[in-house]
Amino acid sequence: MAERQQWGSRIGFLLAAIGSAVGLGNIWRFSYMAYENGGGAFLIPYIIAFVLAGVPLMILEYALGHREKASPPLAFARIKPLWESLGWWMPVVTFFGINLFYTVIVGWCMNYFVFSFDLSWGNQTEQFFQDEFLQISKGPFDIGNIVLPILAGTAFTWLLCWIICFRKISSGIEKASMIFMPILFLLTLVLVAWSVQLEGAWEAIKKHYLSFDFSKIDVGTASGRKVWVDAFGQIFFSLGLGFGVIATYSSYLPRKTNIISGALTICSVNCLYSFIAGFAVFGTIGYMSSVNGIPFEEAIKGGTGLAFVVYPEAINQLPAFNKLFGAVFFLILIVAGLSSAISLTETLTCSISDKFKVNRGRITTLFCVVGFLGSLIFTTQGGIMILDIVDHFIGNYALIIGGIAECLLVGWFLTSIKMRRHIDEVGTQKLLPIWDIAIRYITPSILFIILGVGLFNEIKAPYEGYEMKALIIIGVGALLLTYTLAFILSRFSWKNYSRSVNDQQ
Ligand code: PFF
Repeated sequence: MAERQQWGSRIGFLLAAIGSAVGLGNIWRFSYMAYENGGGAFLIPYIIAFVLAGVPLMILEYALGHREKASPPLAFARIKPLWESLGWWMPVVTFFGINLFYTVIVGWCMNYFVFSFDLSWGNQTEQFFQDEFLQISKGPFDIGNIVLPILAGTAFTWLLCWIICFRKISSGIEKASMIFMPILFLLTLVLVAWSVQLEGAWEAIKKHYLSFDFSKIDVGTASGRKVWVDAFGQIFFSLGLGFGVIATYSSYLPRKTNIISGALTICSVNCLYSFIAGFAVFGTIGYMSSVNGIPFEEAIKGGTGLAFVVYPEAINQLPAFNKLFGAVFFLILIVAGLSSAISLTETLTCSISDKFKVNRGRITTLFCVVGFLGSLIFTTQGGIMILDIVDHFIGNYALIIGGIAECLLVGWFLTSIKMRRHIDEVGTQKLLPIWDIAIRYITPSILFIILGVGLFNEIKAPYEGYEMKALIIIGVGALLLTYTLAFILSRFSWKNYSRSVNDQQ
């Protein structure tokens, strides 16, 4: 039997895993959350979430892929055959529920990268984004036409994904990550250094980012409790837990490997990156609010509004080198987004080739074409609303369920003792006993609470004021469709289910 392919080096694996975790959310989601939730005080629930859920689950997912030398479906099937469909849900959700729109957003960034050469977004950046660029229709059911520049950006993103994922892991994803990550870190440092010295930047950073408003995180209040739930949700999404990506990547590692230091490195670099990028965001918006004389509260936005409306407006007003600043900013988003998109692609193609033993190149080509065709819906005039709803439901529910499933599978069915033995055996570092308690009790309980609070809020007030009908058809529909596909995939029989000789533990 063919030996499983391997990373060429540990640093190559780590950079690829960090590239997967560091994505668009680190730049536009973290800083806005920190701003909304008490500035520096947000770091308290964030760090607690990091310790209680982030690190234990990262170790778990990393060790699962490594012990089984398998993608999530195969790992699940070996430990608890009845749960195979849950193992399939991860790559299916990763690919169909996230990657299809994630690649479209990278496509938007490519367009904006080109726009920054002559600041073609003009002075009315919100109007430009919504009416001229996205050409937004009236509602999610009015999909309208495909928007050609978005189609072109999306096609180019899928092409790059294909070129990188088509090759062997060591010459494709690993090589790309060795190039992408240093570029990403360097450009981010340049942007941060540039942003913090703008007029009014430090004042805004000190007042809104590094200040501590502890009343916002008070668990005695409903809004305080929401901050804690948000912090756990952000850690989960940001580290890419419950997606099966880390398990897939770690399945390509050699037998001897230090799982604990690897997991800690990925978690720390990812969160540190978010924190550092926050200086650029607060600095730039602080500058804009100070030159316009408008309050910071009115200037800041989260998510796509931050990147495609507020940033272009701030770029227009910079004292010098506006175009270069814009190009650097959008290039950062492209690199961060692309390195995540390739990991989302690899997770599904690896799962398929584990089950059906098909040629890796061919399956990558097939899924990049299928992925591109699936992305088309998000390139339409109604695309952004469909994207918003799918993102909300998949991000809030599918991943959390994936995380809970992993905790139960490893903590209870395989038993955490066996997993701990594996981690101790293959590395030189020993795991603290608290890990078992975390993955058996603490982490799944917290995830259940987050799930419950999310569902409660869903019923209390429809997300973002969308019609309930749209939320059910698109959001719940996406969850059901992805699970049905996962279930169907789990019904096929395995071409080879047992460990190969050279994978034996
Ligand atoms: N962590 C990424 C972000 O914050 O944008 C999202 C993501 C990408 C999650 C890739 C998981 C993943 F595999």
